[in-house]
Amino acid sequence: MKLLFRGGVVAGALFAALAAQADEEANLVINGDIEITVRTDAPEHVAQLGTIYSGWVFRSDETQSLQMDDFENPGMIFVDDAIDAWNTVDGTAGNSCAACHGEPESLAGVRAVYPKWNDEAEEVRTIAMQVNGCRTERMGAEAWKYDGKEMINMEALIASVSRGMPVDVAIDGPAQSMWELGREIYYTRFGQLDLSCANCHEDNYGNNIRSDHLSQGQINGFPTYRLKNAQLNGVQSRFRGCIRDTRGETYGVGVEELIALELYVASRGNGLSVEGPSVRN
Ligand code: HEC
Ligand code: HEC
Repeated sequence: MKLLFRGGVVAGALFAALAAQADEEANLVINGDIEITVRTDAPEHVAQLGTIYSGWVFRSDETQSLQMDDFENPGMIFVDDAIDAWNTVDGTAGNSCAACHGEPESLAGVRAVYPKWNDEAEEVRTIAMQVNGCRTERMGAEAWKYDGKEMINMEALIASVSRGMPVDVAIDGPAQSMWELGREIYYTRFGQLDLSCANCHEDNYGNNIRSDHLSQGQINGFPTYRLKNAQLNGVQSRFRGCIRDTRGETYGVGVEELIALELYVASRGNGLSVEGPSVRN
C-alpha cells in the first residue's frame, strides 16, 4: 500500500487506501492476438515512478474485459465510422485520406511517436494538428473541430493500427522546451483543492479518490471510450476535466499549454503500448 498524500487539509481527506477493486496483476491481450504492455520500468525522466502502468490496470474486471475483444469494445464502432471518413473525398482538391495514404495501416507507428516536432511547421504537433494540416493544406477541406467527433474518431482509427507498439515520444532536440513547459504544468497546483496532476497521479495512484480508483493518468490508451459519457474522449478534454475537478480555471483544447502537457504526459508512458481506443469508466 502506498503512503497517503498528506498535502493540504482538504486534499488530505480526499484520498483513501481502500482495498483494490481491480485485478492489478492482469495482463491485456486484445483479440487473443495483440499483446499490450500494461506495466513496465519507468523511463529515466520519471524514475520516481519505478514502474509505469496503463490506466487499464486500475479498472474493474468488467471494464478490463471490454477491451480484450474488439467486438465488445464500444470504441471500435467509431473506428468503423473513421474508416468511412478515411475513404470519403472531401475538400476542393478532390482528395480522400486514402488517395494519398492508401490503407489506414500505412499510419502504423504514428500514434506511438506523437506529439512530435514538425520541421516544416516548426512546432510540436499532436495527431489532431497533423490531420487538420492535411485537411486544410492538402485537401482544401475545412479543419475538424479539435477533440470534436470526426477528429476523435480519426484519432481512434490511427491509434488502432499502432496497438501493441511501444510509446516512444522524443523529448529532446527541438521538442525539449515544450516538454519542459509540460512538465512545469504537470507539477503546478490548480484550483480550490490546490492539487497538481502529480498530487493525484504520481503521489496517489492505486489509492481511491471519492469512489474512483486512481491511475497514473497515462495517455497510451487514448482516445478512450468512457462508460460514464458513452463516447470517445480526447486527451486534452480529459486533462480539462481533471483540472475542472480541482475546481480550477482550465485551458481550451489545442492551446500551447495543453499541447505541451500532452507531450509531457505521453513521455511519462514511454514503453507502455499504444492501446487506443481503450475502455475506461
Ligand atoms: C494530398 C495528399 C494527402 C492527403 C489527401 C492527406 N494526407 Fe496526410 N499526409 C500527407 C503527407 C505528404 C504527409 C507527410 C508530411 C508531413 O509529415 O508533414 C502526411 C502526414 C500525415 C500524418 C502524419 C504522419 C507521420 O508519419 O507523422 C497523419 C496522421 C496524416 N497525414 C493523416 C491524414 C488524414 C487522416 C487524412 C484525411 C483526413 C490525410 N492525412 C490526408 C499527404 C496527405
Ligand atoms: C483530484 C485528483 C486529480 C487531479 C489533480 C488530476 N486528475 Fe487526472 N484523473 C483523476 C481521476 C479520479 C481519474 C479517473 C481514474 C483514473 O484513471 O485515474 C483521472 C483520470 C485521468 C486520465 C485518464 C487515464 C486513463 O487511463 O484513461 C488522465 C490522462 C489524467 N487523469 C490526466 C491528468 C492530468 C494531466 C492532470 C493535471 C492537469 C490530472 N489528471 C489531474 C483525478 C485527478
